[in-house]
Parts: sequence; structure tokens; C-alpha cells
Amino acid sequence: MAELMCTWLGLELASPIVASSGPLTHDPDLISRLVDAGAAAVILPSLFEEQVEHEADELERLYSMHSDANVEAASFFPEVPGYESVVDLALALVERTKARVEVPVVASVNGTHPGGWVRYAKLLVDAGADAIELNMYTVAADPMRTAAQIESDQIALVESLVHTISVPINVKLSPYYTSVGAFAVALEAAGAHGVSFFNRFYQPDLDLDTLEVASALALSTSDELRLPLRWLGLLRQHLHISMAATTGVHSGHDVAKVILAGADVAMTTSAVLRRGPEHIATMLRELSGWMDEHEYTSVGQMRGAVSSATIDDPEAFERANYIGALARYTSNFLNRR
Ligand SMILES: Cc1cc2nc3c(=O)[nH]c(=O)nc-3n(C[C@H](O)[C@H](O)[C@H](O)COP(=O)(O)O)c2cc1C
Repeated sequence: MAELMCTWLGLELASPIVASSGPLTHDPDLISRLVDAGAAAVILPSLFEEQVEHEADELERLYSMHSDANVEAASFFPEVPGYESVVDLALALVERTKARVEVPVVASVNGTHPGGWVRYAKLLVDAGADAIELNMYTVAADPMRTAAQIESDQIALVESLVHTISVPINVKLSPYYTSVGAFAVALEAAGAHGVSFFNRFYQPDLDLDTLEVASALALSTSDELRLPLRWLGLLRQHLHISMAATTGVHSGHDVAKVILAGADVAMTTSAVLRRGPEHIATMLRELSGWMDEHEYTSVGQMRGAVSSATIDDPEAFERANYIGALARYTSNFLNRR
């Protein structure tokens, strides 16, 4: 049977399937089920920069309010019985998960600006996290800030994380950069140990009855795999750090595709939300079956075998035969009329 072991961020994994951050990784029981089904690493839900900063501001406000008050009043703060901050909860989840499973546990922080909140990543590492994922989910909504300013802040953030913590850092990237490749290369130069392609953005809708901006979260489908697939295929030859696919990984065949394009691991959330944690075992069976059928003996042998560096027509990953695809569809459409 094919060898599924692989290395990601320098960590030895039993298979190339990682459970990405999401509702199932909030709970150690569900995490255990993911791992029993074959998830080779788990990424915990993100600790958000805004949450941490808001909580710190709020504590600061309460402290200063009570320090102005009389001594009696000050004595009841900060001992708020049963109060657990978002940071306490995140640290407790790392500890409980580490006590429960043998696979690497990755803690996630979401943020885009360097700042004091970065020290929380260190607390997560002290609590036992084997790696940190930096989820850079942000919308560049301010037209006064240029791409160069935004990117330099983000690179500075990665550099400050690299200097603050002792474990590998994986950056979960958005697809919305003018040059995704140049930014990924800059992340490598800044010291990141891996990049995930790509964070999935939830787009707002308008509710025509209430005239409010509505946000509804829809899970992904396998079709969405094509975006990460393209960039994995294009960038394998340019990056020396780990690459992961996230968004659209629903089956063992999806895993095979992203590894062939150049990924070290495939991450999944929507598929296990729809089908349950045990779906990972099905994905692994499908991956092994495909590898046996195509005579691949290891994941390492597959990795990058169909990337832009190895195929006869490297441009296939760029324009995906743009003109040919448009012409074929148009001609089929007109012939069906
Ligand atoms: C309900 C929900 C919660 C999520 N929470 C997080 C999170 O806290 N941090 C993060 O980086 N990604 C989060 N994600 C994104 C997933 O990790 C993943 O990147 C995304 O769903 C695309 O992968 P998929 O196609 O396998 O679902 C969340 C996704 C869902 C559906």
C-alpha cells in the first residue's frame, strides 16, 4: 500500500490531510474523532486581533475606572468570578487538545497589523501549540492605503511573529494580491515556514426586505479547488517552504490533485462539516486507492509531479487555455441551439 507519511512545516505527519480551523476544531471530542478518522494535524479556531485588543481595552477601562474609585470598590475588580477571557479559552483549548490527541496541534491567530497582540501567539505556544497559523483574513477596504503599505505591514507582522515564537509559522493567505507569487516569496524571505492557499472569503448580500447588509455563510464545493490548484502548480518551483491547499478539498481525489500540483498537505473543513469527521477516513481510502491504481508508492513521489515545472505546457496553469475554453464552450452552446 502507498506510503502516506509526509512532512509539513518540519513536522512529521502520518498522512497529508489536515483538519483546518472551523467549528469541528472547537471541541476536543470532535477533534478526537477527526484524528481517529486520520486527520494528521488539527488547526484550532483563530484568536482574533480585534477580540484580543477589544478585551485588553475593556480590561484597561475597567481597571482605570476602579482605580479612580474608592478602595472598597477597587477591591472587587479584577476578581470577577468565573470570568474567562477569549485568550483563556483559547489557551485552555490548546491544553485540552494536546492532552487528548497525539498529532500536531496548530493554534491560529488572525491579524494583519504588527502590535502588542502578537505576544498572545507566544502564550499559545507556551500552552503547547506545535505550530502557529497566521490567518490573514482581511478586506483591504480603505482606498487610501496602497497595496505596498498593506503588504509591508503584513510582512512586518510575520517577521515579528518569527522573532517572538519558537515554533513553525504557517501563513493562511488570501487570493486577493496583485502578485500572489511575489507575496508568497516575500513571506518565505520573512521567515514563514509554510503558506496555505487560500483563505475563503465570505461575501455580503443585501436583504431586500430589511435593506440590511446580510451575511450568510455557505460551505465550499470541490469546484473551488481550482483556484488553489492553479497557484500551487505555479508556485511549487519558486517556494522552498511548505505549501498547503485549503478551500475546496472534499475528496481523496481532491487531495491527490493538490499534491500532484505541489502541495505538501490538503486541509479540509466544509467536507467534514457536511459529512462528519469520519469522512477523513473515506478521503484517505480514496487517496490510497488512486495512488495504488496509478503506481505511486509515496506522497513524496506525487508531490509536484504535475506542477508548472514538470509538465510539457507550463502555461496550462496560467491561462488554462483561456481562449480555447471560451471558444469550445461557445461553439458547443451554439451547436445545441
Ligand atoms: C463556520 C466556519 C468557521 C471557521 N473558522 C475559522 C477560523 O476561526 N480561522 C480560520 O483560519 N479559518 C476558519 N474557517 C475557514 C476554514 O478553515 C477553511 O479555510 C475554509 O472553510 C475553506 O476550506 P473548505 O473549503 O475545506 O471549507 C472557518 C470556516 C467555517 C465554515
